[in-house]
Amino acid sequence: MNSQLPDCVIKIIRELSNTTDVTNEILTEAVERAGISEDALLPFGMFDHPARESYGRRLLYENDKFSILLMTWNPDDFTAIHNHGVTEWGAVCFFGEAVNRLYETREGKVQLSRKDVFERGKIIPMHGELTHMMGNGGKTGFLTLHIYGSGTNLNIPYIRETVFLPEHKLLTGTNGPAFLNMTEIIEGDPEFFNGYTEDTLLDYFNLIKPYYSKNKRDDLLEKISGFEKNIDTYYR
Ligand SMILES: [Fe+2]
Repeated sequence: MNSQLPDCVIKIIRELSNTTDVTNEILTEAVERAGISEDALLPFGMFDHPARESYGRRLLYENDKFSILLMTWNPDDFTAIHNHGVTEWGAVCFFGEAVNRLYETREGKVQLSRKDVFERGKIIPMHGELTHMMGNGGKTGFLTLHIYGSGTNLNIPYIRETVFLPEHKLLTGTNGPAFLNMTEIIEGDPEFFNGYTEDTLLDYFNLIKPYYSKNKRDDLLEKISGFEKNIDTYYR
């Protein structure tokens, strides 16, 4: 175990390692008992993450059963729409106000099903089938701590999660990162996909435009603006 990790993270690792059948309820209790300290996590934050990675992602710990990651969200940082593959139990702890969107797939189309704002101090349980995107719609940066676990060996190197990239009409597999525009930075084998409802697309474009503006991606902003002006062209 990495002795440099904060005590609160080490407590979670010990408790999860000593529990055979972890559920979201057990996990949430373990996280609450560990007394997660934002101050202890801050030195691990990645507020200076590369601009082309759309949020800071630092792996703190992993074994074959679970992983613990610290994410850093500068203003306008967002994930792409993604699911969590084989994750059977998991939780996210929030140290700032995060925007979250939930999606459902109906008749082959990805559809926005819920808009949430998770406040500082919240611990939200999660699982693999969950398709969502999250990020920072506010003016100050913050951290989130993520714990993902599974009965399937997480260290077997096969593609586990799916990332949706509507602005490119692509989806791609990933072993963790769900960066916006990730087909430009991570090698994968993307597939054509444009199955979203109009409302879903327009909401998604609104969320991601500030990130592309900040990164001076006029090419992508122009592409998005074209779809917004005439959404029918998106489906051609
Ligand atoms: Fe996620």
